[in-house]
Amino acid sequence: MKDLSPAKSDLEPIEIASRDEIAALQLKRMQWSLRHAYDNVAMYRERFDAAGVHPDDLKELKDLAKFPFTTKNDLRDNYPFGLSAVPRAQIARIHASSGTTGKATVVVYTKGDIEVWADTLARSLRASGLRAGDMVHNAYGYGLFTGGLGAHYGIEKLGATVVPMGGGQTEKQVGLITDFQPQGIMVTPSYMLNILEGFHKAGIDPRESSLQVGVFGAEPWTNAMRREVEEAFDMHAVDIYGLSEIMGPGVANECVETKDGLHIWEDHYYPEIIDPQTGDVVEDGQEGELVFTTLTKEGMPMIRYRTRDLTRLLPGTARSMRRMEKITGRSDDMMILRGVNVFPTQIEEQVMATGGLAPYFQIELYKSGRMDAMRVHVEVLPQAADEASRAAAQRMLSKRIKDMVGISTEIVVGDPGSVARSQGKAVRVVDNRDKG
Ligand code: DLL
Repeated sequence: MKDLSPAKSDLEPIEIASRDEIAALQLKRMQWSLRHAYDNVAMYRERFDAAGVHPDDLKELKDLAKFPFTTKNDLRDNYPFGLSAVPRAQIARIHASSGTTGKATVVVYTKGDIEVWADTLARSLRASGLRAGDMVHNAYGYGLFTGGLGAHYGIEKLGATVVPMGGGQTEKQVGLITDFQPQGIMVTPSYMLNILEGFHKAGIDPRESSLQVGVFGAEPWTNAMRREVEEAFDMHAVDIYGLSEIMGPGVANECVETKDGLHIWEDHYYPEIIDPQTGDVVEDGQEGELVFTTLTKEGMPMIRYRTRDLTRLLPGTARSMRRMEKITGRSDDMMILRGVNVFPTQIEEQVMATGGLAPYFQIELYKSGRMDAMRVHVEVLPQAADEASRAAAQRMLSKRIKDMVGISTEIVVGDPGSVARSQGKAVRVVDNRDKG
């Protein structure tokens, strides 16, 4: 793989500023953001008043802990524009996420917000090893999802060439990558595996493709998956994180030179980690739920938004800004089986480590008597499809899961192509517990 580390002179000064400088900027911006929310959004005013806090009470960054949390339900309850802090005519763009339950959550942006978003995304791409003049194939879905347009504006802002492909049509994706020769690709990691399969189907060696770096996010993925994709394409795979409520993709990003977790662009998005049970802020280094406060967002400021994503904060390395560890999962994805907490990422690691299996899997939850049970659907590689290899893979995966997470699972080793393919964000868990 090519060394793609950016030159220090290409970085924005704030990326390598001292912690004191960053903190001073954060405090100033946080004071503005709390006041903006309080003055312009009825919900924040009511909440702050009820909690007996006022924006003037924020004298230092840690005072943020006095302010109440915001949750996804607050967005639903204020559907569609109740949390907007600007007059309708100043809203330049609307995005929404469908969600699996209830109403869509709607987010709004001013022109200024779109600028900040493009800037932080361009910063993310530079951290990923891309630069002006490169070409980037954008296979994140366009439309209400923030992935496609968010990435698009960032690629343009970087001064790179964008190929606005969007999701789906795997054969066409492979054709365009082969014909246009982009250096970068942006896509969910699970859909990248479909593109990999597309290369194989077309008889093209993916290692010979022009791709040098993939910027993968929108769903949890493991370092085991990173190794798989890096090896298959002979390219760098870096992690990009974000969420619509805070902005979209590009809230945090890994640096290609270190790949040691994601630097949070904390000049715009202020992170805290809390104990999800008590809501107390925990020290950096400790695991918990990630909470964000926007520092510059005009259209829809978010104060202490509970992401449900589980991770921990670590000191900066390649940049001064703090890192978050690769996300283990969301508290809502956590399965509890016989009292043991299990995340799909733990299963992914074990599938990747088992010889003879393709990197696709889906978890099915079902009832075994009155107990919850888990079945893992995987598939054999075409070259290991004989009975003996299947049985060996099944035994091996079952043992690995038992050893790692301590529960017995049923493993179904299907034919090549039998596991449902991701079209964007992968559906990792199918819940059949109410199907008898
Ligand atoms: O998924 C934004 C995005 C698009 C990020 C493209 C990266 C690339 P939402 O649809 O609002 O926004 O979903 C946000 O997705 O709270 C996480 O649970 C999950 N997620 C996003 N990026 C990552 C990642 C976009 N790198 C939710 N690792 C978040 C793990 C991620 N989970």
